[in-house]
Amino acid sequence: MATNMEEMLEDTVLLQCRVNNKPCELAIAPGTTLLELLREEMRLTGTHMGCMTGHCGACTVLIDGEVAKSCITLAATVQRKTITTLEGLKDADGKLTPIQQAFWDEAGLQCAFCAPGMVLTATELLKSNAEPTDDEIRTAMAGNLCRCTGYQSIVRAVRAAARVMKQLK
Ligand code: FES
Ligand code: FES
Repeated sequence: MATNMEEMLEDTVLLQCRVNNKPCELAIAPGTTLLELLREEMRLTGTHMGCMTGHCGACTVLIDGEVAKSCITLAATVQRKTITTLEGLKDADGKLTPIQQAFWDEAGLQCAFCAPGMVLTATELLKSNAEPTDDEIRTAMAGNLCRCTGYQSIVRAVRAAARVMKQLK
């Protein structure tokens, strides 16, 4: 007869991955979403809980450097992958990245509910395209909804970040 512990282990998946550059090993229920894992198990509440249907972008993270919506990603699928949340972007000395700084300087955020999606999407965009046009910025950010800014200041922030990052090269 299976012991309680054996029954419990059958219902779990051993997840090994890296989150914000730290190794993570956790037994999780197979149906756990990545958003639940980050917010509830790891207390990384910078990843926001919005629509829960993959439409608003508030739960965005980077998985192996690519944007993904953590509310519709099962945690079990990030086995051996690298996850970066908004908290993982800052330098070891706590300094904001040029993108975070540009959002601050250009008022690209007001309530900041959309910050994970906006900042992490901009991070992915500027890695692959150092000098995006406004149209390219708008297209890249399209999966992220903002109910405060009207989007103009967000485009301005990404443009400003691109300028600063070019000077730093
Ligand atoms: S909470 Fe995931 S896309 Fe809205
Ligand atoms: S700043 Fe409030 S939702 Fe974007």
